[in-house]
Amino acid sequence: MILYRKEIDSTNLEAARLADTLPHGAVIMAEIQTAGKGRRGRSWVSNSGENLYFSMLLKPDFCPDKAPMLTLVMALAAAEAIESEYPDSKPQIKWPNDIVLNGKKICGILTEMQLEGSKIKHVIIGVGINVNQMEFSDENLTYATSLCKETSVKKDKRQLLEAVIRHFEQWYAVFEKEGNLQSFIEPYQERLTNLGKEVRVLDPKGAYQGTALGIDPYGELIVCKEDGSQIKVYAGEVSVRGLYGYV
Ligand code: BTN
Repeated sequence: MILYRKEIDSTNLEAARLADTLPHGAVIMAEIQTAGKGRRGRSWVSNSGENLYFSMLLKPDFCPDKAPMLTLVMALAAAEAIESEYPDSKPQIKWPNDIVLNGKKICGILTEMQLEGSKIKHVIIGVGINVNQMEFSDENLTYATSLCKETSVKKDKRQLLEAVIRHFEQWYAVFEKEGNLQSFIEPYQERLTNLGKEVRVLDPKGAYQGTALGIDPYGELIVCKEDGSQIKVYAGEVSVRGLYGYV
């Protein structure tokens, strides 16, 4: 089920408001968001009408500590869907969930969970993909781009949305069956822009540097610190930056 809104504050907020009445897997797509939400309390500028903004509502049975892994499930699905629609592109993933093309961000994912006691009431995965936008503010120009800008191909957003949903459904079935991301490691790492690179982990308890070695079956980033010790970085906690810029 795909619900369409011409203008809404945020598809994540709309999905939360309608959660009790909508089924598992329902998708809300909006042409424009007036209060689009990004990660870490940032906003997601969504006024162009040329991009894809949508949220998927899930009502999974598994325990809440697995929910952050869904962000990586969506990241892989969205990257594959983009490649299927733009065959000359090779979208990469900046752990855990930014999708990057030619070193610039084309997609962001915001996963939010609502609990009922100790169980998941619902999970909302919000996805913003820069599709046909050609102009970016000076501030965003250095790290953001769109699919059209990079490939010169203008696409029907709805077609891209349907491709993302198809890929997500396939990977979600694998995740549900296996309960972790073991089967994702290879395809995810094939696109992992941080792989083998020096990263700076912005841990609230203190930033540190190291080399990103890959992900484990729980979606944590394995980082080898300068002293040789290995640390597993949990997606919810920290932000990771390349040493020389965004990726
Ligand atoms: C990020 O900060 O990278 C995550 C951005 C997520 C944006 C999408 S757009 C559709 C959905 N609705 C929102 O308010 N946010 C997400």
